[in-house]
Amino acid sequence: MSSEFGCKVKISIFGQSHGRAVGVIINGLPAGENIDMDELYRFMARRRPGKNALSTSRSEADLPVFLSGIKDNKTCGTPLCAVIYNSDARSSDYDEFLDKPRPSHADYTAYIKWQGSADMAGGGHFSGRLTAPLCIAGAIASQILKRRGIFVGVHLASVGSVRDNAFPLFPGKELFEAISRKEFPVIDDEKGALMQAVIANAAAASDSVGGIIECAAIGLPAGLGSPMFDGMENKLAAALFGIPAVKGVEFGSGFNGSLLRGSENNDPFCIGTSGSIETAANNSGGILGGITNGMPLILRTAIKPTPSIGLPQQSVSLSRLEPEKLIIKGRHDPCIAHRAVPVVEAVTAAVLLDLFIEEGEI
Ligand SMILES: Cc1cc2nc3c(=O)[nH]c(=O)nc-3n(C[C@H](O)[C@H](O)[C@H](O)COP(=O)(O)O)c2cc1C
Repeated sequence: MSSEFGCKVKISIFGQSHGRAVGVIINGLPAGENIDMDELYRFMARRRPGKNALSTSRSEADLPVFLSGIKDNKTCGTPLCAVIYNSDARSSDYDEFLDKPRPSHADYTAYIKWQGSADMAGGGHFSGRLTAPLCIAGAIASQILKRRGIFVGVHLASVGSVRDNAFPLFPGKELFEAISRKEFPVIDDEKGALMQAVIANAAAASDSVGGIIECAAIGLPAGLGSPMFDGMENKLAAALFGIPAVKGVEFGSGFNGSLLRGSENNDPFCIGTSGSIETAANNSGGILGGITNGMPLILRTAIKPTPSIGLPQQSVSLSRLEPEKLIIKGRHDPCIAHRAVPVVEAVTAAVLLDLFIEEGEI
């Protein structure tokens, strides 16, 4: 089924941006897991729009209502369903796009696929709003993983050409926690200020910019995953590409590694301070042959520039098959990469929990 991922823990996302609600159904969560609701709300608040001048003015409380699967803040073992009611939708902003698809949105492809039947107001089922229920699933997965010593951390690695420091070879959970509490999720706040200037410049020009999000997972045992088509990279990439606006996923040294020589890109084996086998570098991103090697898992996702911009753009009339100028009024976010940071963490945690359960670790 579409809009669903996972093998043992199946996560299904439903709803449209301007419909009654968006939500998630999670099947296969272990029973008896305590869910700290304050921590879950804090996770969700990191993604919420309207927090600062760099984000869209759409204001949503984004508080989930749990319809099933949790009792007294503990998972019951039965399917969990949570909904977030939509409260701030202005669908009339979108009437024009029924005939004039917005460039680099899914308006045109959805029109072709469902012959005009899709509810595309606010981007419909393709909207960034659908990442709110993803964060519910990720916040729950992350709490279950933390209890087993597995921590996932994320930061905004770049906006435009401004780069944050990379995660160190062995990032710690304290670093993850510190970044997650920042208004702008970077390691080096000076670089963060430069990124915000790049975003403000784009906004002043009624334009938008993209960015890269780096994600790390620590505490994973060596040996998790499978070769070829069911590996750690495959499962993570498949789910991460479900996040709207993700156009690239790389692991370890990724695309840059292809520019290096083997002698530079190889990770020499060594014995770590605790006597365990480690590698002195981590260009593999903690994965060899689709299987974890015990080093931190490192991945990056490329987030494209926000497709809705204030500048006039070229489109066509679908009914008249004629060129049309398009001006998108309403709300625009000059960059969505900083808001997608907790979403990447959420999806990574959900995939790791699924794999953990699949391999009998929980
Ligand atoms: C958290 C988040 C918020 C988003 N908000 C917006 C937005 O305000 N404006 C916009 O044009 N696109 C936004 N997007 C991206 C679009 O939903 C997405 O680019 C579009 O549906 C086309 O899908 P694709 O880029 O995956 O091909 C957002 C994405 C995410 C992850």
